[in-house]
Amino acid sequence: MALREIRLDGDPILRKKSKEITKINDRIKTLLDDMVETMNEANGVGLAAPQVGILRRAVVIDVGEGVIKLINPEIIEANGAIIDLEGCLSVPNLNGKVERPEKVKVRFMDNNGDMKIIEATDFFARAICHEIDHLDGILYTDKAIEIFSVEEEEEVEVQEEE
Ligand code: CO
Repeated sequence: MALREIRLDGDPILRKKSKEITKINDRIKTLLDDMVETMNEANGVGLAAPQVGILRRAVVIDVGEGVIKLINPEIIEANGAIIDLEGCLSVPNLNGKVERPEKVKVRFMDNNGDMKIIEATDFFARAICHEIDHLDGILYTDKAIEIFSVEEEEEVEVQEEE
């Protein structure tokens, strides 16, 4: 496994559409392993392949319930709406309020090539939607109704505690 360089907002690769993965070979498996390592090193909860410069539909997520690797993920059902904060490893030092579905049903291929369907709610659903957007060249800042610097947000939290 190896760390990969995380591309930052302004890099044109983040705005391109990623291609479907038709065959799971060693290169894809290595990519997914490297993405997990890179996400963990950066203390992220999700990472999409274009964020490491690879335009393939692959995503890794770990919202505290273990790592999940999603190949060609697709939202097949979405319900509800929640506005909450999110950030992105490609957009450092900012957070934004984004509306996302409360619950999603997602079809994907695992790294053995098996098709699976999972249901996700709340923060897990948010992470999946955020990462799938990356595969279509969309950043959360495109959808955010409000964006803060991380420092501003900490100030707000301190004031609320007083
Ligand atoms: Co992101």
